[in-house]
Amino acid sequence: MICPSILSADFSLLKETFQEMEKAGIEVIHFDVMDNHFVPNLTFGHKFVSDLRKHSALFFDVHLMIHKPEVHFRHYLEAGADLIVIHYEAVDPSQIRKVSEEIRKKGKKFGISIKPATPVNVLLPFLEYLDLILIMTVEPGFGGQKLIEPCVEKVAELKKMIHDSSLKIILQVDGGVDKDNLERIYHRGADWFVVGSAFFKEPDFTFFQKLLKRIQTNVTI
Ligand code: DX5
Ligand code: ZN
Repeated sequence: MICPSILSADFSLLKETFQEMEKAGIEVIHFDVMDNHFVPNLTFGHKFVSDLRKHSALFFDVHLMIHKPEVHFRHYLEAGADLIVIHYEAVDPSQIRKVSEEIRKKGKKFGISIKPATPVNVLLPFLEYLDLILIMTVEPGFGGQKLIEPCVEKVAELKKMIHDSSLKIILQVDGGVDKDNLERIYHRGADWFVVGSAFFKEPDFTFFQKLLKRIQTNVTI
């Protein structure tokens, strides 16, 4: 699945952009919420998500790059998020189970993200509470950065960890994904790809989905 990150889109045109993305067959939209505290950048809050919710039936994937997500996640759930992803480095680990239960009780999905320096095994005690794991392949905070190559190996490590657990957990990658590295990351075991600047650089919103399909069916391009 290709999950366009709207961080690289023109916010003033989002209503129309969502319609165009839907027409192009996009199913998941990635929202980057930043608080200028957990990361050195500020984007938008839950009202932004709820206002767009009124205009789109797409799956809203909300990536919370904020401190104390266990306190704030509820606003995003009420705003219409379909998936809420919090950062392992930002949450009180004793609250993870509770947050997951509350989100799942509403029929929505829950995920945890890890920054490039965080080892994958910190997630081992929490696997049963997760629908998705997001591996950051850049330092969170800004779009348009270059993928940190060693992070791609973490995808393979996590894939194995998930496989060994026999749980169904989606593996998502975020940061610096482009047309040159997508295939490599796919072969390490990623399921969902957040694509920001590279997605909006292409005039054709179907470009990355077609590329992924070609990679999956092993057709040379
Ligand atoms: C970075 C965000 C990403 C960002 C990705 O902190 O989490 O979702 O928008 O953008 P690109 O694809 O440009 O790295
Ligand atoms: Zn993100």
